[in-house]
Amino acid sequence: MSTPTSKLTEAALQVKIGSYTRHIFLCVGESCCSKEQGEAAWTTLKNDLKEKNLSLSDGPSACYRTKTGCLRICMQGPILVVYPEGNWYANMTADRIPEFVDRQIVKGEAVEEWIFARNPLSQND
Ligand code: FES
Repeated sequence: MSTPTSKLTEAALQVKIGSYTRHIFLCVGESCCSKEQGEAAWTTLKNDLKEKNLSLSDGPSACYRTKTGCLRICMQGPILVVYPEGNWYANMTADRIPEFVDRQIVKGEAVEEWIFARNPLSQND
C-alpha cells in the first residue's frame, strides 16, 4: 500500500511537475469577462500549447497552465499572468492567445503592448 506522499509524488510526476520553465494562470471569472470569452480563451490556450508540444512536456519551453476564477483585477479580462517573468496581460481573448504563445512562451519575448503590470519572481541561489 502506498503512502499519501508517494501518491502525491506520483500525481505530480504524471503532470510533469519539475520540468516546467513557465506557469500561466488565466482568469475566466465572470467579473472580468463573459463566460464565453473566458472559456474560448482557455480552450485556445490549451489547444495551442498542446499543438506546440509545450503542455505536459519537458522541452525547453515547457509550460504549465492553470484556469482560475479570479486574479483580483476584475476588469478588461480575460486576465493572464505568466511566471517567472510575472507579466500581467489584459484582454486576453482567444484571438490574442496564439500570438501570446508564440512571442512570450516560444520566443521568450514579452508582448509589451498588452502588459499592464509586472511582478517578476526571482530565484534565491
Ligand atoms: S474575475 Fe478575473 S480577475 Fe477577478
